[in-house]
Amino acid sequence: MNILVVDDERFNLKMAQDLIEVNIADCHVFLCSLPEEVIHKIEEHNIDIILLDIIMPEITGIDVLKSIRSQKKYNDIQIIMFTGITDKESFKTCFESGANDYINKPINLTEFVARINASLRARKNILALKEMNDTITTQYKKLQAVTQQLKDTQFNLIQKEKLAALGEIAAGIAHEINNPMGFISSNLDTMNRYFQKIGNLIAIYRNFVQLASDETINKETLVREKAKITEIERKQKIDFILDDLTTVIQESSDGADRVTKIVQSLRHLAKTGTENEMTYNDLSQIAEEALLVVKHETRFVAEIDKQIESPLYLLCNKGEIGQVMLNILLNAIQAVKSLNVESLGKISIEAYSSEKCVICKISDDGPGIQEEHLNRIFDPFFTTKDVGSGVGLGLSVAYDIVVKKHGGELSVASEFGKGTSFIIKLPTNGGKVYNAKQ
Ligand SMILES: Nc1ncnc2c1ncn2[C@@H]1O[C@H](COP(=O)(O)OP(=O)(O)OP(=O)(O)O)[C@@H](O)[C@H]1O
Ligand SMILES: [Mg+2]
Repeated sequence: MNILVVDDERFNLKMAQDLIEVNIADCHVFLCSLPEEVIHKIEEHNIDIILLDIIMPEITGIDVLKSIRSQKKYNDIQIIMFTGITDKESFKTCFESGANDYINKPINLTEFVARINASLRARKNILALKEMNDTITTQYKKLQAVTQQLKDTQFNLIQKEKLAALGEIAAGIAHEINNPMGFISSNLDTMNRYFQKIGNLIAIYRNFVQLASDETINKETLVREKAKITEIERKQKIDFILDDLTTVIQESSDGADRVTKIVQSLRHLAKTGTENEMTYNDLSQIAEEALLVVKHETRFVAEIDKQIESPLYLLCNKGEIGQVMLNILLNAIQAVKSLNVESLGKISIEAYSSEKCVICKISDDGPGIQEEHLNRIFDPFFTTKDVGSGVGLGLSVAYDIVVKKHGGELSVASEFGKGTSFIIKLPTNGGKVYNAKQ
């Protein structure tokens, strides 16, 4: 430790130096007889403790004390006032100006050593605290960097999981789109044929109108021509065509609507969900969209039993909640499929509101979950599926979205051999966790 003694009297300086060097271990003593040089000496010798005389000509010890304390970087140097005065007001001023202690002159050796040692301990504690603070700050910065890295990784995982889920159902979706597109295109062919027939008939009608406007034409010819037209209409099945056109157009328009809906659902599900975009959405609509996207997967696998109240408004990130539904529905479908039986299984989806929450329960009559797996299914990368068919992220992503991002609850009830139910409970206000984050 470096101790600076400041006194205008050389005798006092020497005495203090001797006393410190003899009685205090591990100290370097520096002397200063000119108060204006104190700051310079502090810098030069990296001073820990200052023993500061109060009464000095021109600049007093209190002035020196104030000038040291005026600089923040010297705030934790231990300053002991070294004085012959006993006036309590001066002591008060010293302490108010930032002194840590005082030592009376003439020196009492025991007191002198005890006070210097106390200051040394205080200084050591401050240095240790500073070091600890520096370490904590560095660790905190590292932690922040790691947290950011984790967030990035988590985001990438969520994106990958979403892509994987979409990839898995892509063939089904393609089929769902292909099917209406198939009959729309065949209907267009039909309409083209009908159009030609109607076009021909119009030409015949025009011909007839022209004939009728000819004043020289006799009535029998007109009746004959009209009978010919009626026969053509009958042969060409014009009445049927007119009837069928309405159906064909309605069917094509329904098909186009279905394609639009599928594409919309996909767009909602594919949304990144990173924008913290919390808006009021209808859970029943999100559920319907998720069901539409997995519709093809359920064909030949399970009957879907829907009991969905509508509307079910809540503040949420639509893309993310859609993904939760999709992940849980896909698990249910895969579970029923894994039974490998001919008869159709059953997947039920129930949604209703309850006390500032909306609840959605998705159940299946698949194989159920073994008891020892129940508390692991939400862990990232836990999967019982074959390599390549399951990554083990679906439920962990769902848990993150429901619990951490929306302040809700995601629970499971399962009986091995009987089936499984997942219950999603979401607060309608978007959840406290989310609000606190904002
Ligand atoms: N409805 C269910 N019936 C039976 N087991 C289920 C059901 N849902 C989930 N599980 C079990 O929980 C595990 C974890 O599910 P999770 O959705 O997280 O991953 P995964 O389906 O295996 O893979 P991924 O969803 O990433 O493709 C599954 O492997 C399965 O063992
Ligand atoms: Mg899954």
